[in-house]
Amino acid sequence: MWYTTHMHTATALALPNIAFIKYWGDQDPCLRIPANGSLSMNLAGLYTRTRVTFATELPEDTLTVNEQAITDVGLERVSTLLDCVRELAGVRLFATVESYSNFPIGAGIASSASAFAALSLAASAAAGRQLTESELSRLARSGSGSACRSIPGGFVEWQAGSSDEDSYAFTFAPPEHWDLVDCIVIVNQAHKAVGSTAGHALALTSPLQPARVQDAPRRLDICRRAILQRDFQAFAEIIELDSNLMHSIMITSTPPLLYWQPATLAVMRAVQELRQTGIPAAYTIDAGPNVHVLTQSSSASQVIAHLARLDGVQQILTASPGGPAILVEAGC
Ligand code: PMV
Repeated sequence: MWYTTHMHTATALALPNIAFIKYWGDQDPCLRIPANGSLSMNLAGLYTRTRVTFATELPEDTLTVNEQAITDVGLERVSTLLDCVRELAGVRLFATVESYSNFPIGAGIASSASAFAALSLAASAAAGRQLTESELSRLARSGSGSACRSIPGGFVEWQAGSSDEDSYAFTFAPPEHWDLVDCIVIVNQAHKAVGSTAGHALALTSPLQPARVQDAPRRLDICRRAILQRDFQAFAEIIELDSNLMHSIMITSTPPLLYWQPATLAVMRAVQELRQTGIPAAYTIDAGPNVHVLTQSSSASQVIAHLARLDGVQQILTASPGGPAILVEAGC
């Protein structure tokens, strides 16, 4: 317990991740234990950098995101995670949290994943605790499920588990294992209307969700194997199927969630046409209208040139497989 010191600070950097086998729906929404396991890749070049400072003079927790003060549910979620860290470390101080992301947030590019991963690492370090990778992954999961996958590096599996103890993510292949490129096709930068926390809660209102969950182990096996064997064709087929399944749940929930826009569909079609001509390209879409198009580095410029011509495409970001969350600064 700290009584005399006045300031403890740490800064962490974490990358967003793109899921190839998606997390959608919870066994336990409070602990964010997912209905099914998922697979993802961290995205190098995009990042969230978060500084956490516990200090004696603070009357409450505060949060800024890209220099804007946040006071709503965003701050509540951050304070809840900080409460876990305070409990764990025996700290009774409030904190300032300053977060910066270098990519559009809340638009289906997993900004909450990098944000809660960076927060977990920075907060636990600032509180003087050095957590193991799986402990950090579990902590990040409590803030945003997919954030648990942004703690380890490279190609990552989140084992669903059934309790707080056994639901965490680990690396199954390092970043250099496969030279994939994620071309993130932005068709809309706006913040999504229905966030994923609310979306997960609707999953079971779709009569299709039990079938999607039941079939998840099979898709996980196929996708894991395709990545380990660098088999692009098998990878493309399984990630498109998995994304389509998740969006089928979304559009058949009550109320329905339709994240796609006309340009989303145009990109999906263009990707399938590219693949038919022998160019490696495959799409996957999170809870937003933007499309992640996976390709291999030798084909990236060709894929980008083709997609950039489509109506409604505003910008294309690129990311290669990235490393784990890291501490960039810590001290008193
Ligand atoms: O971690 P959340 O609650 O933001 O949920 C993420 C949901 C998807 O991005 C749509 C899928 C996934 O596995 O990342």
